[in-house]
Amino acid sequence: MICDDAKNPESFRDFLSLYSSQAKYIGNKIYFYDDIDSTNNEAKRKSNCCDGTVFVAAKQTAGRGRRGNTWVSDDKGIWMSILLKPKIKSELAQCITLVAGLSVSEAIDGSMIKWPNDIVIGNKKLGGILTELISLGGSEFAVVTGIGVNVNTTSFHESISKIATSVYLHTGIKSSRKVLFKDICSNFEKNYSILLKSGFAGIRDKYKSRCITIGRDVILKGVEGDSFAFAEDIDKNGGLIVRNNKGVFTVNSGEVSVRGLFGYV
Ligand code: BTN
Repeated sequence: MICDDAKNPESFRDFLSLYSSQAKYIGNKIYFYDDIDSTNNEAKRKSNCCDGTVFVAAKQTAGRGRRGNTWVSDDKGIWMSILLKPKIKSELAQCITLVAGLSVSEAIDGSMIKWPNDIVIGNKKLGGILTELISLGGSEFAVVTGIGVNVNTTSFHESISKIATSVYLHTGIKSSRKVLFKDICSNFEKNYSILLKSGFAGIRDKYKSRCITIGRDVILKGVEGDSFAFAEDIDKNGGLIVRNNKGVFTVNSGEVSVRGLFGYV
């Protein structure tokens, strides 16, 4: 299972083409690019494509993270965006980002989720999710869920090296992007269908079992500044239940960013 295909984009391309010919839903159509600005941008440009189309790039030249951050995307990671056209309320669409985080974490042994959807291992960030809604006119919308995983990256710029890691840096083993891609897609397909059928409640227990934020002191970084709280639980809609000197309340992923008190996690 372990092999380094990072130096061989052709083989990744061939694999994706075979994968899409056999995929039932997620990845039934896959676009692969040697390099592109951002797979999320491309998915938005191609939002007329069908539900479940996946956009994958060997490299991104303008990868985007949450909160306007840049996402450094060398040729050794998984950079992919899934285009979805669910017939659900936009509130539930926010949970798709949690589905993606769970699906990535399930694909990488030992990884956990920092609420809402940072993938962490050994107290460092291994991957992240950027979900965006696109209006298709009227009340119709599409969802683009961008997934970034640092797979075989060997070093990071000193500005992020204290908080960023890759599967390789953590394990010392080069991993196959093909295997990881396949596992992420099949986990996503399974978890997303549960979400559509049963709401977030259907995956809540699995999500909680991988969420490293619960039971920790956290800093809530909101528009009105920072505040301290204790993370108690995840509610039935995927919100984070916290307690501070004002009482117990729920924060939603769009409203705050969470930091550990003693570092990134
Ligand atoms: C984060 O800030 O944690 C989210 C990072 C999301 C990165 C992925 S890589 C594929 C997709 N294309 C982008 O430009 N961003 C997402």
